[in-house]
Amino acid sequence: MFAWISSGCSGFPHSLKTCGIGEMGEKMRKKNVESALLFLTGVVCLLIITNKNDSKEDDVNLKSKKTEEILHNQEDFSRTETLPPSTSYCQPNMSFYKLPEFSTLPDHIKDFLLYRHCKSFPMILDVPDKCGGAQNSADVFLLLVIKSSPENYDRREVLRKTWAEERLHKGVWIRRIFIIGTSSSGLGKRRMNRLLKLENNENKDILQWDFNDSFFNLTLKQILFLEWMDRRCPHARFLLNGDDDIFANTFNMIEYLQGQEDNDGSRHLFTGNIIQNVGPIRKRSSKYYIPVQIQESDIYPPYCGGGGFLLSGFTARTIYNMSHSVILLPIDDVYMGMCLKKAGIKPTSHFGVRTAGLRVPVGIVDKFDPCYYREILLVHRFLPHMIFVMWDEIQNPNLRCAKNNFKRTKEQGVFQREI
Ligand SMILES: *[C@@H]1O[C@H](CO)[C@@H](O)[C@H](O)[C@H]1NC(C)=O
Ligand SMILES: *[C@@H]1O[C@H](CO)[C@@H](O)[C@H](O)[C@H]1NC(C)=O
Ligand SMILES: *[C@@H]1O[C@H](CO)[C@@H](O)[C@H](O)[C@H]1NC(C)=O
Ligand SMILES: *[C@@H]1O[C@H](CO)[C@@H](O)[C@H](O)[C@H]1NC(C)=O
Repeated sequence: MFAWISSGCSGFPHSLKTCGIGEMGEKMRKKNVESALLFLTGVVCLLIITNKNDSKEDDVNLKSKKTEEILHNQEDFSRTETLPPSTSYCQPNMSFYKLPEFSTLPDHIKDFLLYRHCKSFPMILDVPDKCGGAQNSADVFLLLVIKSSPENYDRREVLRKTWAEERLHKGVWIRRIFIIGTSSSGLGKRRMNRLLKLENNENKDILQWDFNDSFFNLTLKQILFLEWMDRRCPHARFLLNGDDDIFANTFNMIEYLQGQEDNDGSRHLFTGNIIQNVGPIRKRSSKYYIPVQIQESDIYPPYCGGGGFLLSGFTARTIYNMSHSVILLPIDDVYMGMCLKKAGIKPTSHFGVRTAGLRVPVGIVDKFDPCYYREILLVHRFLPHMIFVMWDEIQNPNLRCAKNNFKRTKEQGVFQREI
C-alpha cells in the first residue's frame, strides 16, 4: 500500500502540495497506460487531503510507520557506502594517559579530553545551495539552525510542517537546516545514515558530519555548523539556533528582527534566556559535570540558554572567528558565551525566550492556552504532537485572548509582562 502511494505522490505525505489534480490530469493525457494507476493515486491523495484537517496527528503516526518500514525494508542498502578512511580522522591526544588522575575520570570526560583538539570531521550530507550560494546568502533573512540527532526523525517531520517551514513571510525568507552527527556504530550507524540520506533527498535540509552525536559533542556540532556557514551562507542576516524540541513562534521572530531598526544583521545581536553568575558543576553525577581537568576557573561568562537563542549573521561570524582561539568546552551554550566574551560583546536577555519553560500565572487551568504562546518567541520542551496543535491554534483568526496576558512595548520590540 505504502509503496505505491509513494510512486504517485513522491514523498508521501510530505509533498501533498505537489500532488495536484491539474498536474495529474496532464500526465493522464500523456500516458494512457498509467492513467488508471494515477487516477487511483489521485483518489488516495484526495482522501488524505480531506482527512488532513481532522487528523494531523495521524500524519505523524503514518510517518513513523514509514520510518519503521524504511528501517526494516532497507537491509539491502549498499554496504560498500564508504566514508573517508580512518587515517584521515583526527587522532586522540594520547598524552592524557600520562596524567595520574586521568584514569579516575568518567568515560565521557576522558573521551572529551582525548578528542578536544579535533575540530574537523568529514561531512556526510550537505545542502550546498541552501542559501542560494554564498554570494546571494543575504537573501536569507532568518536561518533556522536546529540541533537534532539521527533518531529524532519524528521531531524533524513535525518542525518541517510547523514553525520551521521554509517560507516567504512579510517579504523575507525563512530557511531551515538540521545539524546532525552520527549515532551508534556498525550496521545501526549505516542504517541511520541511510535514513538521513533519504530524508535529505526529499527535504534538502540536513547537514551531517561523521562524529558521535553525543551531549558532550554539541559544541563541536556548533562549530562545524559555523564553519559551514562561513563557506556556504556567510551573509544570512539572522539565525535562530535551537533544539528540535522547542516551540518557536517564527512569525513573532520575524516581527522582532524586522523591528531592529539599526541592525540588518551586520551588527551585534545575541539574545535569549540569559544565564549569569554560574560556574562549572563539580558534582560527578551531574550531566553537566565539568572537572578541573576541563576547566579550572569557577565561573562561566554570561550566556544564553542553549534551548534556543537569536543572533545576527555578524555575531555568528564573530563567534566562529573566536572559536579558533577559544579552547573547546563541552557545554555548547556556555562556549558561545566564552566566544562572545573573547570578542568583547555581550548576550542580552529577551523576555519572549523561555528556555526554562513558560510560567503561566496561577489560576490559569490550561497551561497550553494558545494565548500565551501567541505572544512569546520560544519555549523549550514541547512534545511533537503539542507543537502541531499549538502551531495551528496560534494562527486561528478566531482566537480570542484577554489583552492582559503580556504587553508588548513597541519601541524596544521586546515583550514585557503587564503589571
Ligand atoms: C595533548 O594533551 C597535552 C596534555 O594535556 C597538552 O599539553 C597538549 O597540548 C595536547 N595536544 C594537543 C594537540 O592538543
Ligand atoms: C558516543 O558517545 C556516547 C556518550 O559519550 C557513548 O556512550 C557511545 O558509546 C559513543 N558511541 C560511539 C559509537 O562511539
Ligand atoms: C565526539 O565525536 C568523536 C568522533 O566520533 C568521538 O571520537 C568522541 O569520542 C566524541 N566525544 C564525546 C565526548 O562523545
Ligand atoms: C573574522 O576573521 C576574518 C579573518 O580573520 C576577518 O576578515 C573578518 O572580518 C572577521 N569577521 C568578524 C565578524 O569578526
